[in-house]
Amino acid sequence: MLSSFSDCKRNLVDGNLAVLPTETVYGLAANGLKSEAVNKIFELKGRPANNPVILHISGLDESRPYAIITKNAEILAERFWPGPLTLLLNKKNIVPGNVTASLNTVGIRSPSNKVFRKMLNELAFPLAAPSANPSNRTSPTTSAQVLEMFGSDCPPVLDDGQTALGLESTVIDLTSKVPTILRPGHVTTGEIEDCLSSHISTKHDNLKSGKFPHKSPGNNFKHYSPKTPTMLHRSLESCIKSNELHRNELVLVYSQDAVARLNKFECTTWSLSEKGILEEVGRSLFKSLHEADTQNFKKIHLILLVEGDDLSLAINDRITRACAKQD
Ligand code: TXA
Ligand code: MG
Repeated sequence: MLSSFSDCKRNLVDGNLAVLPTETVYGLAANGLKSEAVNKIFELKGRPANNPVILHISGLDESRPYAIITKNAEILAERFWPGPLTLLLNKKNIVPGNVTASLNTVGIRSPSNKVFRKMLNELAFPLAAPSANPSNRTSPTTSAQVLEMFGSDCPPVLDDGQTALGLESTVIDLTSKVPTILRPGHVTTGEIEDCLSSHISTKHDNLKSGKFPHKSPGNNFKHYSPKTPTMLHRSLESCIKSNELHRNELVLVYSQDAVARLNKFECTTWSLSEKGILEEVGRSLFKSLHEADTQNFKKIHLILLVEGDDLSLAINDRITRACAKQD
C-alpha cells in the first residue's frame, strides 16, 4: 500500500523493505549493511542469488566506507552525481556478500530524487535497492505498477509520481583495465569519454568482438518482459512491410508521424512521443509496456531506433531484451 515517509523509514530501520522513488525507476530498498534485510529483497523479487544489487549513498564521501574510490570514480562522481550513473568499484569487507553476489566489486550510485535523498540523509546506513519489480518483469516507473506487480506481498510504497527518466542507470565497470559500460542509460559513452578524456569500452563493442563480459548477471539477455508476447522489428519500414499488424495487436512507435503511417492497418498504435524526442520515449517506454499488459492485446510490436551516441542505445537495449525469448 502507499505509505508515508516515516512509515517507510521505520520499516527500513527495522530491517524490512520499502519501495522508494528514484529519478530512474522505483527501487525496492533495504538496509544495505544487513544481509538478512537484503535477503528479503531477493525473496520478494525471486531474484537469483548470483545477481548483485546496487548500494545507494548520498555522495562520494559517503561511499568511501564501502568501496575503493579510484581517480576515475572521483572524476565521474563529480560530474554525474547525484544522477543516473552506477559505478562498479572494488568493495570493502563491510559490504555483505549477498549485496555483491560474492563478487569483489560493488555497484554504487547516488540518486538525485529528492525523497530518496532525504531518506538517505536520515538513515545511518546505505540502501541496497534493485528495481522494484519481480525478476524478469518490466521495471516500474509509477507506484501503481509496483502495487500491481507485488499485489498483497507489496511492502510500503512511497509515492512520488512518475519517475523523471524512466530507464535504469548507466552501469560502468571501473575495475577493468578499460572502463566498460555494462548497461547503457542516460549517461552516454561519449559523455563519459569526454569526462575521462580516454576511450572506454561498451558491452556492444564486446558483443561484436565476442568478448561479452558476463560480469553483470542482471544484464543477461532476457529481462524487462511484459506478460504480453512481443515482436521485435528492425525499423518502422520493416514493421510496415511485415504485414503482420493485426487487430488486437499493439504497435509502439516513436512519433505521431509514424502513427499516421500505420493508419491503414487494423492494429492499435501508441506513440511514445509526439515529436520523436528521445527523452520522452525513454520516460514512457516502461509505462506503456505496463499499460499494454493491463489490456488484452495479443501481441506488442516494438521497433528498434536508429542508434547514435545517445539514449537510443539504452532504449534499444531495453526493447531488445523485452523481446528476447530466453537468456
Ligand atoms: O537506476 C537504477 O540503477 C535502479 C534504481 C532503483 O537505482 N536500480 C536498478 O537495479 O536498476 P537492478 O538491480 O535492477 O539493476 C542493477 C544492475 C543489475 O544488472 C546487476 O547485475 C548489476 O547492475 N550490478 C549490480 N552490482 C553489480 C556488481 N557488483 N557487479 C556487476 N554487476 C552489478
Ligand atoms: Mg532491475
